[in-house]
Amino acid sequence: MEPTPATVEQLLRNILHPASGKDIVTAGLVENIRVDGKKIHLRLVFPQPDPLAAQLKKEIETILSATFPDAGIKGNIMELIRDKKPAAKPPATTEYNGLTEVKNILAVASGKGGVGKSTVAVNLAVALAAMGCRVGLADADIYGPSVPKMIAAENEQPLMQQSGGKEQILPVERYGVKWMSVGFFVPSGQPLIWRGPMTTGALRQLVRQAAWGALDVLLIDLPPGTGDIHLNIIHELPLTGAIVVSTPQALALADVEKGVNMFLNKNVRVNVLGIVENMAWFTPAELPQNRYYLFGKGGAKALAQKMRLPLLAQIPLVQSICDSGDSGIPVALLDTPASAAFRQLASAVKADLRI
Ligand SMILES: Nc1ncnc2c1ncn2[C@@H]1O[C@H](COP(=O)(O)OP(=O)(O)OP(=O)(O)O)[C@@H](O)[C@H]1O
Ligand SMILES: [Mg+2]
Repeated sequence: MEPTPATVEQLLRNILHPASGKDIVTAGLVENIRVDGKKIHLRLVFPQPDPLAAQLKKEIETILSATFPDAGIKGNIMELIRDKKPAAKPPATTEYNGLTEVKNILAVASGKGGVGKSTVAVNLAVALAAMGCRVGLADADIYGPSVPKMIAAENEQPLMQQSGGKEQILPVERYGVKWMSVGFFVPSGQPLIWRGPMTTGALRQLVRQAAWGALDVLLIDLPPGTGDIHLNIIHELPLTGAIVVSTPQALALADVEKGVNMFLNKNVRVNVLGIVENMAWFTPAELPQNRYYLFGKGGAKALAQKMRLPLLAQIPLVQSICDSGDSGIPVALLDTPASAAFRQLASAVKADLRI
């Protein structure tokens, strides 16, 4: 097949510009497609400097050279910043922004997977709500959303509503908290496959397009790691702080240190409220006074001291927490020693909120 401006344009319609949620042609980013012998030229026009420009350029080169292997593309994609008429892309201020009445946005994070971030986030949300705070939680784990199951809301579907010509998503309300998760939009058990830039768009939509209303605090349950998704969230959302979860284990602690540094980085500077030590010790239900330090003792405390951060709470490893994750009734709603630990965490966090 020989390239023509029309076939090139058709191919480019497969490339998504995540910030606008449209393909790059529809979003008005592509201009001046020319085919000159074996060379394809085009211009990418952005209304403002766009961090995704390089990646989009690469995607264009990949898709065109796969379809037209003989064509010359590299070096022929020009990039231009030009403020276009509002019709091309509405300025960010006219997009619906559900965060305008949210007083605090806290990320619940850890460099490490499986340490209990979602468990801590969900129970903290419920415990804060029980203390009279207006709370929302956004599950930012778009590859493996676990929040819907943890609140027994796997079959819930958030409603959409139009207001002032803008589409909003109504969070699911349960246990006095407003919840949002990608898991509400996809059948459970199905793997989600996202291309890199789409993740940013999906998360942005999930958090900003939700009609949170007036909240004292919105918790963001982050996926494990310290990768691009995290940096995008940190740069896209006006975070007011972060809570970092760790187990006492030395291996977890090294990753957690990375997680803390991700927020303290001089280009980011998100306030870290402190560290939560999860699975601090094991207590069997039949011997509630006993503590077995399966993963070592005092590890998170030492890390907190080293990083000059408060240790916000120590949560025991108990069967009831594990069971509550499966039953969808957060343990913070119940009256057990583990619930008391989450209440303590909620008090410590509440004291740090700007309300
Ligand atoms: N204190 C605890 N006691 C007992 N079980 C726990 C405790 N904390 C977490 N768990 C269990 O450990 C598992 C992992 O917890 P969770 O999903 O909260 O971790 P996560 O850090 O969010 O994981 P991921 O990195 O995959 O997002 C779950 O089955 C949860 O029920
Ligand atoms: Mg999780």
